[in-house]
Amino acid sequence: MWLLIAVSVFVGFLIVLYLASPLITPKPLDLKGVHVLVTGGSSGIGKAIAVEVAQRGANICLLARNKAKLEEAQSEIEKVLVDKNQQKVIHISVDISKDYAAVVQAIQQAEEELGPVVLLVNCAGASVAGSFEDLSLNDFKRMIDINYIGTVHVTRAVIPSMKKNQHGRIVFISSQAGQIGLYGYTAYSGSKFALRGLAEALHMELKPYNVYVTLAFPPDTDTPGFAEEQKSKPEETRLISETAGLFQPSVVASSIIKDVVSGRFFSYAGLDGYMLAAVTCGMSPVTSIMEATQQVACMGIFRIISLFYLDHFDRICRKCKQERSDPSSEKKTS
Ligand SMILES: NC(=O)c1ccc[n+]([C@@H]2O[C@H](COP(=O)([O-])OP(=O)(O)OC[C@H]3O[C@@H](n4cnc5c(N)ncnc54)[C@H](OP(=O)(O)O)[C@@H]3O)[C@@H](O)[C@H]2O)c1
Repeated sequence: MWLLIAVSVFVGFLIVLYLASPLITPKPLDLKGVHVLVTGGSSGIGKAIAVEVAQRGANICLLARNKAKLEEAQSEIEKVLVDKNQQKVIHISVDISKDYAAVVQAIQQAEEELGPVVLLVNCAGASVAGSFEDLSLNDFKRMIDINYIGTVHVTRAVIPSMKKNQHGRIVFISSQAGQIGLYGYTAYSGSKFALRGLAEALHMELKPYNVYVTLAFPPDTDTPGFAEEQKSKPEETRLISETAGLFQPSVVASSIIKDVVSGRFFSYAGLDGYMLAAVTCGMSPVTSIMEATQQVACMGIFRIISLFYLDHFDRICRKCKQERSDPSSEKKTS
């Protein structure tokens, strides 16, 4: 009897989900011949994303500041094009975080050469790690300027043509530090959490125009940016980050593009990424019944698992504090 009720409730839940408008799944995006604009496309995850879309037949514009790095990345990407006669790769040097007029001009130039942007990948970004008081006030401002304002600038410049054409996808590259606040990331996490609010609100605004947003939460990825961050990482941050392992940019890029093509709102990599996305889903948009069902079914158990992770992280912080106040304690315990 109880089993019958449980099965009926579950089937009813699936029917409601099937009929519910939030679950409209966008049509898969064909990248062949379309203009993909990648900010931060000269390095790390952004460059790997540009390689991935080049292999799917897209025309690509790379946006970053350093011209030498842009040229180098462009020639690397040109080597993997699938149709060298049809595909084009260009680059434009601009600082996305400063002057909005300069960003608008860069987008206009890119659209004149490659047509309207169909996929915008907001990947340009930077990170800084340090305890709250060790970080300068300028670090907080810099994170917001690059990771948030820079993203707003480019997105705002691209949206008019997407809405007009009723066609487009926008990717925001947040971070796992944009899902949970961790020791050392007070400045970085703040800027990456901000992207979530932006992505959720924009998704609701743009959906009626057939423009979809994807919010990606990459794990630690082996890039020049990651290597730079390592230099100033507090011990606590390093030990906590190591729990999730280090991914290759090509793996992260390929999973992001797969999710963008199928129009998913959340994009993540690995088992930890899957768990984090489910446990932090809140009222975020869903784009498939399977995803919604998994979230409903797994949230409770994932919350329990997360408590063990939090306990582990707290122990790391306590141990590091103790070692700092009594450096000899490390030797005593080892
Ligand atoms: N690597 C990781 O472990 C990891 C994990 C989670 C999330 N992420 C995020 O993924 C994104 C890429 O990270 P990454 O590790 O691949 O970094 P990266 O190797 O340092 O590349 C950053 C890119 O952004 C560009 N850029 C930075 N500031 C810019 C600005 N003001 N205007 C225009 N372009 C700018 C850089 O070029 P120029 O310096 O020449 O401008 C470069 O092309 C970032 O948003 C990062 O927060 C990274």
